[in-house]
Order: sequence, then C-alpha cells, then structure tokens
Amino acid sequence: MRSRHGAAELNTLQETFDRALASAAEGRFDAAVSDFQAVLALRPDEGPVLFSLGVTLMNARRFPEAAAALSRAVATQDVEPLWRNCLAQAQYMTGDFAGAAASFEAVGEPLGDGAVLTWARAAAYAAVETSTADTALALYERIAGPLAEDPTTVVREGFSILVAFKRLAAARVLGDWLAANTADDPVQAHERRVLTEQDIDRAPSDYVEALFDNFADRFDEQLVDNLGYDAPALLADKVAALDDRFARILDLGCGTGLAGPHLRRFQGRITGVDLSSGMLARAAERGDYDQLIQAEAIDFLRGASDGFDLIFSTDVLIYFGDLTPLFAAAAGALPSGGVLAVSTERGEDGWMLLPSARYAHGEAYVRQASAPWFDLVDQVEISLRRDATDITPGGLYVMRRKG
Ligand SMILES: C[S@@+](CC[C@H](N)C(=O)[O-])C[C@H]1O[C@@H](n2cnc3c(N)ncnc32)[C@H](O)[C@@H]1O
Repeated sequence: MRSRHGAAELNTLQETFDRALASAAEGRFDAAVSDFQAVLALRPDEGPVLFSLGVTLMNARRFPEAAAALSRAVATQDVEPLWRNCLAQAQYMTGDFAGAAASFEAVGEPLGDGAVLTWARAAAYAAVETSTADTALALYERIAGPLAEDPTTVVREGFSILVAFKRLAAARVLGDWLAANTADDPVQAHERRVLTEQDIDRAPSDYVEALFDNFADRFDEQLVDNLGYDAPALLADKVAALDDRFARILDLGCGTGLAGPHLRRFQGRITGVDLSSGMLARAAERGDYDQLIQAEAIDFLRGASDGFDLIFSTDVLIYFGDLTPLFAAAAGALPSGGVLAVSTERGEDGWMLLPSARYAHGEAYVRQASAPWFDLVDQVEISLRRDATDITPGGLYVMRRKG
C-alpha cells in the first residue's frame, strides 16, 4: 500500500487488509468486507483493496456491489488486466451485458476460453436489445472464434438469461428466432407463449415433464448449492410443530426427493408423485420413498379419496396459477383433520404468471382459495431461492382439512 500517512497508521491499515484477505480466503465474507471497507474509509482510491473487496463480494454473490467496487478499482492507477476481467464477470452477473462486453474488450491481454465465451455471450445479449438475432449471433461468432458453440445453444441459453433479467423484448427476439430455426419442443413453446399470454392458468403437463426430465441431473446442485433452496426442511419443521406422526404421507411433485429425508421423521409410509420420470428416478436413488408414481398431481389426487393423512408439496404450486382445482382435489384425498402443507412463490395479489413461466400467489389469495376446505393453521414468509439478482420471496402454508 502506498502512503502519505505515518508508519503506525500504515501498519494498522496493512494489518486490517491482511486480516480481510485471510477472512476472505476462509470464506468469512462479511468479516472480510467490513475490514476492506475500513481500509477504504481511509484510503478510498487504493486499487488493490477495491479489487479484493470486489472479488470477495463476487464470492459472496453480492454482484451489484461487486461491480461497483470493481468499477472503482479500474478507475484507479496501475490497473491490472485481471481487474477488468473480474469487473466484466461481475457486470455479466448483474445483467449489464453491454458493460461486460466493453470491460472484456478493455482487458488488453489474451483471455481464457471461459472468459472469451462469456464476452461473446455478453456482446450478443447486448446486441439483441437493438438488432436482430442473426446480427447478434454474427457478433457472438466473431468474438468466440473457434470456441463458438452452436447457434441454437447460444440462443436458447440467451433466451433464458434475458427472461431471468426481465429483458422481455430482447428475449422475444430470441424466442422468434428459435421458433423460425428449430423444431419446436414443449419447453420452448410454453416459454414463448408465457411472454405474450398472461392468462394461462397452469403449466401444461408436457412442458413440466420435458423441463424436469432435462433438469433432473442438475436439479439438486442448482437448487440447493447455487440457489440456497431449503423449503422442504423449513416446511417439515412447520408440520412437526403440529403433529409428530402421520401414517400416510404424500409428497406431491416430489421431484428428486429433496423432501424425503425430512418426511421420514413422521414415521409413515411415504408416496412420491411427479410428472417427470427423470426426477422420479433420482428420488428412487435416495431410498426415502415407499412408493413412487408418475402422474399428474390433480389427476392423482382425484383418484386417491381419503388416501393420505399429510399432503406435502414444496415448489410445485409455482406451476399452477388458479389453485382452486388443486385445493379441491387435495381436500378429497384427506380425511377431516388431515394436513396439507405447501410452499408458494409469493406475489402481491391473486395469482400471476411470471416471465420465468412460474406462478406467484398472494397470501390473501391462498387463504381465500383454500378456505372452502381448509383451516389455515400456520403461514410464514421465507426466502425461497436466489434468482438472477434477487432473493425470491416465498410462503409456507400449513392447513387442516375441515370436518
Ligand atoms: C421445482 S420442483 C420441486 C421438487 C420438490 N418438491 C422439491 O421441493 O425439491 C417441481 C416438481 O413438481 C413437478 N410438477 C410440476 N407440476 C406438476 C404436476 N402438475 N403434476 C405432477 N408433478 C408436477 C415437477 O415435475 C417437478 O419435479
């Protein structure tokens, strides 16, 4: 650290900086950030400190703050190419694709393959805001050179990323390219429809099945490790506050069986139902279920009169807009006093189809739609998962079947 300050102060600053680096290396990001900030309070233009703060914020997934710190770092003297590279990555993670492309271009030394591909994507996603998909693809190919992936992969992933960042006009441009240039599949068809039709009242079964069959192998890593998803554990705790045993348990939309270990505590026979055979295969590997059935949720419930004491369903109502048919069918599958425990993505009012093709439900709506059959016993707001830049709020609801 360069200094006009006294030796004692310099020592203290250096110690604080070293401690911050040690905390960052040990994954104690909050402690590191506050020590970096303490140094910066006295030395606001210290490039290496701003850079280290930016990298730490990246590791803590605080991308907008990381981009701000790294922007300050590259505005100081003696900037190293790596700083611009990290700034570009942070800008990409915040959806500032034009900024990311410009930062990659400014690095001024050869980039690794991963960085080249991120640059090419950033440039293409920025270009599609103002030009055609073919122009954006040509730019992608120019930057990616021999590393270029096939255009359909680039456009498919670009579509998902632009939707996640709510750049819906740009996403539609890529959606139209996919419609014109690829054989339609149920996932693409529904995701495109969602961008123009707001009144679809539930996700089609062929969409759900194809989506999760493709996703099954990556689901646990993506949801739990990357998105911080733990609704099954939280909801099971809520249910346990009510009863510690249920003889017949249904995990509705069980997916890969993340809820299985948490449902075991109720010591009953556990049935898992899901539309996706890929997800069910993963649930079978877990070994927590007595029975796994491939079926559509409402169809299954309608054929299961009085069949369960607890119906448990996490992150499944996000595929239903109008919840009335599902609540009615769940009521038919429970005896009086039986428990229905569900999670939702929390919205403002009523139900709403989001650009992500998931549904969000207002708390008042869930209460009102379930009221003909259920008494609401407990409900709480949770952080459901981290999305592109935000925490997605969720709701947990525990209800008893009316007598
Ligand atoms: C986001 S995953 C959640 C899986 C699991 N409940 C968990 O919390 O990890 C949603 C699951 O619901 C299933 N699903 C969605 N709609 C369904 C429906 N109508 N009938 C049956 N399963 C459905 C999907 O196949 C997928 O496995």
